[in-house]
Amino acid sequence: MTAPVTPAGAPPSTVTSVSPALNARDISLGFGDTTVLAGVELALYSREFVAVVGASGVGKSTLLRALTGLLAPQSGEVDIPDGKDDGTRAWSMVFQAPRLFPWRRVRANVELGLEGLGLSRAERRERAMQPLMLVGLDAYAERWPHTLSGGQQQRVGIARALAVRPRVLFMDEPFSSLDAITRRRLQQELIALRRRTEAAIVFVTHDIEEAVLLADRVMVLGNQEADQPARVVETLGINLPLDERRDLPDFAPLVRRVEAIIGNQ
Ligand SMILES: Nc1ncnc2c1ncn2[C@@H]1O[C@H](COP(=O)(O)OP(=O)(O)OP(=O)(O)O)[C@@H](O)[C@H]1O
Ligand SMILES: [Mg+2]
Repeated sequence: MTAPVTPAGAPPSTVTSVSPALNARDISLGFGDTTVLAGVELALYSREFVAVVGASGVGKSTLLRALTGLLAPQSGEVDIPDGKDDGTRAWSMVFQAPRLFPWRRVRANVELGLEGLGLSRAERRERAMQPLMLVGLDAYAERWPHTLSGGQQQRVGIARALAVRPRVLFMDEPFSSLDAITRRRLQQELIALRRRTEAAIVFVTHDIEEAVLLADRVMVLGNQEADQPARVVETLGINLPLDERRDLPDFAPLVRRVEAIIGNQ
């Protein structure tokens, strides 16, 4: 086999995107005259996973809203590429509660985000079944939401967010209402899912172990001085292989390090 020929100066064909999926430059956010969070910088590329941790009320959910463009920053800029005219969306969100419509079957719930994307009914159906398969619920497509367990409903919420093939997937404490066993299972599923999606992921959690388990980078938000806006205190790169992270000797020390950073705020 001969090597593919690339014209001089052209990027190799394997490089699909060199610009960030999301780029926030020195953003400050808040409500009215109050600034909750200041000086946030975040450039996120396709397939990258950033976890955001910090005390309750520090501004994690507010940051996600600003990164989606739903909340205008008080200063600074957020670039998130526009939805292209190709049946995808720039971003989608998974919340703590699955927020399913009880009067729509599972598949119809997953199809929700696909409405308005110019897809035919058959295309919408097909596009809903793929992520349902990814989260292991294709056999439940015609069920009503109330006949599913809490964990299964949350997986439907994840499938719905994936169906639009987002460039950025935002997850705001998606597993925090689940029992420990289901939570562990969904964490493993998310690790597997990361390999099958191009999306960049921003994942908010209270659970530091979860953040270190899943992320490439952990961004710690905190208030260094009372009455001052919170800031990014530190961003730690987690350079551990994703499989079996919990069992690696470096795992627990990293968790303790993040805990110490938060404890010092
Ligand atoms: N719509 C709003 N109007 C005024 N203040 C708000 C509004 N939404 C949030 N806040 C305030 O902004 C701060 C950050 O809230 P946010 O919901 O982002 O925190 P959080 O880090 O997500 O907390 P938690 O971990 O409890 O979910 C809080 O002090 C909150 O009271
Ligand atoms: Mg929140």
